[in-house]
Amino acid sequence: MPTNPVLVVHGGAWDIPDAMVEAHLAGVRNAAAAGWRALERGGSALDAVEEAIVIMEDDETFDAGRGSFLNRDGKVQLDAFIMDGSTLRGGGVGCVERLRNPVRAARKILSDSPHVYFVAEGAERFAAEHGIALCRNEDLVIPREVARLRQYQAQASADGNSNTDGNDLFAPAHDMLSHDTVGAVALDRNGNIAASTSTGGTLNKAPGRLGDSSLIGCGCYADNQSAAASTTGWGEPIMKLVLAKWAADRVASGSLPEWVAKEAMNYLKQRLNGHGGIILLDAQGRYGIAHNTPRMAWALRSTQKQEAGIQRNS
Ligand code: GLY
Repeated sequence: MPTNPVLVVHGGAWDIPDAMVEAHLAGVRNAAAAGWRALERGGSALDAVEEAIVIMEDDETFDAGRGSFLNRDGKVQLDAFIMDGSTLRGGGVGCVERLRNPVRAARKILSDSPHVYFVAEGAERFAAEHGIALCRNEDLVIPREVARLRQYQAQASADGNSNTDGNDLFAPAHDMLSHDTVGAVALDRNGNIAASTSTGGTLNKAPGRLGDSSLIGCGCYADNQSAAASTTGWGEPIMKLVLAKWAADRVASGSLPEWVAKEAMNYLKQRLNGHGGIILLDAQGRYGIAHNTPRMAWALRSTQKQEAGIQRNS
């Protein structure tokens, strides 16, 4: 018997200012609509999460694709991962500088390569060899982010911080920084789940720094036998806790995704003073949406529901 599809997306968890609320809500709604169209056409959960992520990578509101945070050298460096819960195949790219939609390359790795990851120039070469057009890094940089980086570096210099990348920042400030990493989880009519996460990483990051988003089990995971998960937030604590897999394992042990999502955020906060959010979905269509930041942008589509929000904590 066909399963009723479900799709959940997120567009970052932080103290999203009032002036940016509408843009975030519009962005996650558009992403959910694109993913839902794929599911309605009979597409797979993988198709749905890929299409949803592409919309958010193309939307300059988010820290993914064009408009992402700049690294210390003033460049956009992108990470993305996509995973199929029915086969456990995954595809990831890290530190790519010439791809508008890193999730498209990640999907190609999943489908056309025996490997799971390609990074930097090797990932770009793989993408080009598989029909994905390369862009210039300048095409991904927008004036808002140039100004943001300048202001950040000037402030860090005035404060006397010699090492200003993400790891050097004191933890309590992290929920105030933008974490607009994007993610999606989906269940298709065949009962398969998938997840994807895409990011430009942290502001002023050291060149070559890889975040949690593209790391399997950290920022993204999917297994039909447990759950599909995508996280957002300050990457280093999420990586150290392998948080997406931590959450999926608890669903496999019988806990409800709604409860596990909240527990994952409590664990992140209590264990490492980490900040962020998570979306979680199992193969029965049960889902959880949680964050330990003031706000997280999310949207949900199912045969019964069409919702979006920026403040929900369950
Ligand atoms: N969560 C995004 C990053 O830290 O790279």
